[in-house]
Amino acid sequence: MSIARNALLRMSRSRWLADRVMTRSFARRAVKKFMPGETLEDALAAAAALAPDRLGSILTKLGENLTSPGEADAVRAHYLDVLHRIAARDLDAHVSVKPTQLGLDFSFDHCAEHMEALARKAEATRSIFWIDMEDSSYVDRTLDLYRRLKAVQPRVGIALQAYLRRTPQDLKSLLPLNPIVRLVKGAYAEPAHVAFPAKRDTDFAYYELASQLLDAAAAGKALPIFGTHDLTLVDRIVAKAQALGVGDGGFEIHMLYGIRMDAQRRLGAAGRKVKCLISYGNAWFPWYMRRLAERPANIWFVMKSMLPG
Ligand code: FDA
Repeated sequence: MSIARNALLRMSRSRWLADRVMTRSFARRAVKKFMPGETLEDALAAAAALAPDRLGSILTKLGENLTSPGEADAVRAHYLDVLHRIAARDLDAHVSVKPTQLGLDFSFDHCAEHMEALARKAEATRSIFWIDMEDSSYVDRTLDLYRRLKAVQPRVGIALQAYLRRTPQDLKSLLPLNPIVRLVKGAYAEPAHVAFPAKRDTDFAYYELASQLLDAAAAGKALPIFGTHDLTLVDRIVAKAQALGVGDGGFEIHMLYGIRMDAQRRLGAAGRKVKCLISYGNAWFPWYMRRLAERPANIWFVMKSMLPG
């Protein structure tokens, strides 16, 4: 892992730094590159603006690791309202939620109940309920949540991280469930015995896992979603899907708002199913630091935002 990436991921966990950075106007200017605004209305307007370009959306309210169990009730109520508003506007949009945002640190069962309520509402509004994957200490519990949810709601998706050494085993264990999987590279600081330190190993693992997912999709046994901006990988995945006869409806490509928007539009225009993950909310510090860590060159953009005017 590069020194800059490591340092940024460590900084992402600092409450002290978050309190000092989040009030600075240059930081708020810089963060706009990756989010249309802090309110749900900003996110819904951005989702509507993407629709003419054939881009669907996934909405996620920033926030993780709550400080009290009661906060999870408010998060659940918020997402129920989001799903209601998505349906009312007839948007091609889903929601994606971190388990710790629904209180996983306090109670597995309560978190699962919140997720079931959201998955039921998503199902009723013909959308997919997405579970994000957080750092490796949460993987077992997140997979257990997924298994529990999948048993009652088929349209639930989970993120798997290609950088984790355990993921091939995890994918194997999920395949009998006919899973909906969003494959991502992985965004957290992990020790070398848990995750590949070298990016090339993660890239290699990503394609291997993508191939297994496409094989399962060809047999009608998985819906794979590729959450990456790595266009070399995307080209290889599209070629493999075509070789296997997995049509454009049989897999999707998801990217983040503000990153490679030109490629998102181009892929959408070419008939691929593409969704753009739109984040909103005011708890953006750890999430923003992870975006900087993915591409430390983004720090120049932050420095430019410090200039007046
Ligand atoms: P890679 O890092 O190789 O980037 C490829 C190219 O994309 C770069 O060369 C650059 O041009 C561009 N790029 C990538 N990141 C950029 C950035 N921040 N700023 C500017 N350009 C950038 N992670 C996780 O651990 N759990 C999760 O649940 C999710 N969920 C998720 C959903 C979706 C829809 C996406 C797209 C990503 C996630 N992630 C995630 C994040 C993921 O793990 C990973 O950190 C990022 O996607 C960056 O990796 P890439 O696959 O884009 O490749």
